[in-house]
Amino acid sequence: MRSSTISAKNTLTTHNSNITQRETEARKLATFLEISRTLAGAYKLKEALGRVLETLGRHHGMIRGVVMLVDPDTAELRIEASYGLSEGDAHRISYRIGEGITGRVAESGKAIVVPQISREPLFLDRLGLRKKTSGRQELSFLCVPIVVNRKTVGVLGVDLRYKEERDYDRAIKFLTIVASMMAQAIKVEHLIEAEKQRLLTENIHLKQELRERYDFGQIIGNSHPMRQVYEQVTQVARTNTTVLLRGESGTGKEMIAHAIHYNSLRAGKPFVRVSCAALPETLIESELFGYEKGAFTGAQARKKGRFELADGGTLFLDEIGDLNLSTQIKLLRALQEREFERLGGTETIKVNVRLIAATNKDLEKAIAADQFREDLYYRLNVFAIFMPPLRERKTDILLLADHFLEKYAREHGKLIKRISTPAIDMLTSYHWPGNVRELENIIERAVLVCETNVIHGHHLPPTLQTAEGSGTMTRLSLGGAVEAYERGLIQDALKTTRGNISKAAKMLDTTERIIGYKVKKYDIDCKRFRC
Ligand SMILES: Nc1ncnc2c1ncn2[C@@H]1O[C@H](COP(=O)(O)OP(=O)(O)OP(=O)(O)O)[C@@H](O)[C@H]1O
Ligand SMILES: [Mg+2]
Repeated sequence: MRSSTISAKNTLTTHNSNITQRETEARKLATFLEISRTLAGAYKLKEALGRVLETLGRHHGMIRGVVMLVDPDTAELRIEASYGLSEGDAHRISYRIGEGITGRVAESGKAIVVPQISREPLFLDRLGLRKKTSGRQELSFLCVPIVVNRKTVGVLGVDLRYKEERDYDRAIKFLTIVASMMAQAIKVEHLIEAEKQRLLTENIHLKQELRERYDFGQIIGNSHPMRQVYEQVTQVARTNTTVLLRGESGTGKEMIAHAIHYNSLRAGKPFVRVSCAALPETLIESELFGYEKGAFTGAQARKKGRFELADGGTLFLDEIGDLNLSTQIKLLRALQEREFERLGGTETIKVNVRLIAATNKDLEKAIAADQFREDLYYRLNVFAIFMPPLRERKTDILLLADHFLEKYAREHGKLIKRISTPAIDMLTSYHWPGNVRELENIIERAVLVCETNVIHGHHLPPTLQTAEGSGTMTRLSLGGAVEAYERGLIQDALKTTRGNISKAAKMLDTTERIIGYKVKKYDIDCKRFRC
């Protein structure tokens, strides 16, 4: 170890003895500048470190240089970048922490100088490279730690020609600054890598959540029209066929679009939605097809359009009936040829996209009124699925109501067990112009205002309690409302007691005779509650 601890006196960069001290300092500063530019502008750390070593070789007479980083899995030092070594050699070299000079620097975090490697027994020339060189010329080896957050993450080691007059102190100071610049770049890369990993994990998690959310199991309804929809989805999902989803607002078109995607072979690829109604006419084309830098004022960088973002996956064009005519022409071309140009660009871009479109508009009427292109209509209308309105699948209302009750009770932390019979009657007799979305909103509201563990009629909005709502009452008088309330209470009690009049009477703190009388008056069928 004699030579390794020597603090030497001669400079690293005086391979030309005529160069003055000032010139040497100026060269070092120029090197720092070049290194910092290399590290700051680099896309890949490995390449940048290689270029830094090259700079040291070019300007400071370094014969060989390595950056070795600690592999966290094996706790071994491996070459990340090298200069003056073949790629094969670089691959072969590794040191355990504490092993040889390099391993000791990594272990102690302190720089080591070996002025003459031929005299240092601890020097483990793994590839025998230096011995080969030193046949003609003695070499010096300098090794400094690379420290991130006070932890040694690697080392920088360089071979120099041995010169008696070299100032090793200055040389080590110089290399320590280079190593700390490398450390900074490594730290940034670690942070970026950690963030990338976090985003990746989050992405996998979100994709899984989406998949579960749009799983068939989450689509509620077993009425005949819904079963037909499931059948159609199953038929078409695994193909690349364009699907047109039609149906009134709130019938579940978007939900079905997701289900098609997540049950297709493209499930692992993006599902990209574009709302043709939400985007202003001026923006829709740049959203769909993207733009090149400078395509218009404010286009400061190239931007990919949704078509490109959906490559390999599914593009969902929602509310297609609201698309303006000029965009319809461009869309038609993109659909026919599966290619397009970005706004302001000349390059033709090809994409592999499965298309699903949806609308609640009467497209045939829009064609007759010259608002929708017939040729585009035929392109889209390859496989149409009609979402039935909720009023035409009354048997689903209760299933959906129970599903939303459970969902929102859980979400709002409430213990609500069921919906009262009169409230169910109100739900089933309403005509649901807003379809499932309206039902969902109504149940969420009911959960919020409900203070007991049962949703009652009065938790539902007035529209469901009036003539327009149910179509069963012409006018809601006080007497009528009281009767409806009374009937509801009795039905609830009978439901709880499984149709037992005497127990129901006890629950309501009245007599069996009165309940019997009211049951007759309201024509309540007790047998209905017995099962
Ligand atoms: N069968 C269903 N099961 C469970 N939830 C449903 C079902 N159908 C619709 N929904 C829910 O109803 C809401 C409205 O559905 P969706 O957005 O898919 O309707 P839409 O047909 O796209 O309506 P719009 O034409 O207004 O865009 C969503 O919150 C959706 O989760
Ligand atoms: Mg929709």
